[in-house]
Amino acid sequence: TTNWIKAIALADVPDEDVIAVQAGDREIALYGVEGNVYATDNLCTHGNARLCDGFLTGHEIECPLHQGRFDVRDGRALCSPLRDNLATYPVRIEDGVVFVAL
Ligand code: FES
Repeated sequence: TTNWIKAIALADVPDEDVIAVQAGDREIALYGVEGNVYATDNLCTHGNARLCDGFLTGHEIECPLHQGRFDVRDGRALCSPLRDNLATYPVRIEDGVVFVAL
C-alpha cells in the first residue's frame, strides 16, 4: 500500500521555484513548475548539497555546489559531474494540500 504523507499546503509551493519540506523521516524538495508540483530527494546524488538551495529553470534544478542538473520530473541526471539519478516521488493534491508517496 502506498504511504501518502501530508507535505505542505499547495499555496505554499512557490511558482517556478523549489522549497524543502520534511515528509516522514526524510527531507524532500518540492518544485512548482507551470502549475504542476514535483517531488524529489532534497540531497544531491553527487555530494552534500541541498537542492532547495539550487536554481530551478523550467523543469531543471541546478545543484548549488557543482552545478549538476536534474530533471525534476523523472530525476534524470542531465550533466556531469552527476552520475546517479535522483529519487522522485509521486505527488497528489487534495483539498489544497500536497501529499507525497514515500
Ligand atoms: Fe551536487 Fe556536486 S554536490 S553537483
